[in-house]
Amino acid sequence: VDPHIHQPSHKMGLVSSLGQYSLFGDSFAGILASLLVAFVIGNVLQQFRPRDKSTPPVVFHLFPWFGSMITYGIDPYKFFFGMREKYGNVYTFIMGGRRITVALGVDGNELVLNGKLSQVSAEDAYTPLTTPVFGEDVVYDVPNHVLMEQKKFVKFGLGIENFKAYVPLIVGETKKYFESSPYFQAGSGKTSGSVPLLKAMSEITIYTASRTLQGKEVRDALDGSFADLYHDLDRGFTPLNFMFPNLPLPSYRRRDVAQKKMAQTYMNIIKKRRETGETPDTDMIWSLMNAKYKDGRALTDKEIAHMMIALLMAGQHTSSATGTWALLHLGADKKLQQDLLEEQKRVCGEDLPELQYEHLKDLTLLNYVIRETLRMHPPLHSIMRLVKAPIQVPGSDIIIPEGHFLMAAPGVTAVDPAHFPNPNTFTADRWSKKSADVDIEEKIDYGYGLVSKGAASPYLPFGAGRHRCIGEQFAYVQLGTLISAFVRELEWESVVPPPDYSSMVVLPAGGSEMRWKLRK
Ligand code: HEM
Repeated sequence: VDPHIHQPSHKMGLVSSLGQYSLFGDSFAGILASLLVAFVIGNVLQQFRPRDKSTPPVVFHLFPWFGSMITYGIDPYKFFFGMREKYGNVYTFIMGGRRITVALGVDGNELVLNGKLSQVSAEDAYTPLTTPVFGEDVVYDVPNHVLMEQKKFVKFGLGIENFKAYVPLIVGETKKYFESSPYFQAGSGKTSGSVPLLKAMSEITIYTASRTLQGKEVRDALDGSFADLYHDLDRGFTPLNFMFPNLPLPSYRRRDVAQKKMAQTYMNIIKKRRETGETPDTDMIWSLMNAKYKDGRALTDKEIAHMMIALLMAGQHTSSATGTWALLHLGADKKLQQDLLEEQKRVCGEDLPELQYEHLKDLTLLNYVIRETLRMHPPLHSIMRLVKAPIQVPGSDIIIPEGHFLMAAPGVTAVDPAHFPNPNTFTADRWSKKSADVDIEEKIDYGYGLVSKGAASPYLPFGAGRHRCIGEQFAYVQLGTLISAFVRELEWESVVPPPDYSSMVVLPAGGSEMRWKLRK
């Protein structure tokens, strides 16, 4: 744009005078387009300036603010691997105006997941997304040391005695689902059919998690209006909500209403239990009702309600996605299905008596199937922290500035051939030759029990460090029992679709159809 060609008269209005400089004419749209082009050119030129070597390289992008939102959003792994080739293991990209620094490789896993409390904060990164959904005073709405105590309460409620009670409950719910769900209707004599697996697994996961962790009252409520509330809340737990925590949209309003009503449902359950003085059961509500902070204070009913919502949301998508991928891989490998059935017979007995918790640890191949599923399809592709104080990247001059988001992607090392040969082939048996670099023996306690000290492992589907998952054992019990029930009752076929990264967890794209028939 040459300002000498069209000198605007000082008598012209602002819009028409801007129009004189506009590449696209003097309409409002033309002026906007010109401004956009100017921004893009300015943004590109600024990226060609010599880089300050003490900060991470920035991924080239045309549009300011948007940055790499589309390329990252469509396929984060393609983005991570592609940019790693160009920029190395540590680089910054722009997304929605945020500067996000990725740290890849085992050292990157360590840097992010074992970051010092004074330097990184998970609560600041996540609270805009999670607090409207979980509610106040729990998880990322409290200081880190309170979260550590809350995790301890939950871990206490996830003991072996509870798991022993859960296995028959999960078996019962799954059988009931086969008999009565419209997808199977085995109870009405149907012997074969086709199922949208992702949808079915979401239902089975929430029924089994609610019947065990959440308690009988919540399970019963799911047959009524509680299910609609859950769906409204769930629609407020998406990448869009992470990018824009508060938009004036109906889905946001429904999220807020659902949160309050769900919390009230839990509070009514707690109140009723207190009034009737029922004897303790094995669910998490009971555990939390009996828990006390270090200062002797019991949790309020509201805190218990919000913790229960947090647990429901944390476990639901992660476990249902993992279960779906596992069953899809098994549907593509009939021999593996058969091997799992043989293992069931070997461990439980030839006539397949009801599965018990004690059997699960001996079902080695079943556990390898879950492990391998989590290697290829960890539900969470990106783990975030907010940088509170500059961080020096070990072994380099790079300093990650305060205000950046720091991102780990342990799924990258899990499909890196340097750590796992033929990483894109589902090989459950690879876990029988345990590689030394995967499991870290040294342990540490952040306040909620012992966890591995280091995070420099290529296999971390449950994260590491102070924010490590506390639901791992429950997830193994739930998934192991569900998959066993499928293997015992059905034979099925499926193909493994490509991943879809558009929701909070990595899901199979499309309907993930599976064809089944009852085992003789
Ligand atoms: C944390 C994965 C199931 C509760 C995490 C993290 C990961 C993860 C990667 C770390 C997040 C971070 O560092 O920012 C998974 C996977 C699951 C699963 C792959 C199933 C296959 C569950 C279940 C529950 C649960 C069933 C509850 C019963 C939690 C909680 C945290 C957590 C409370 C701690 C958050 C924190 O300290 O910041 N999970 N999870 N998860 N998960 Fe899980």
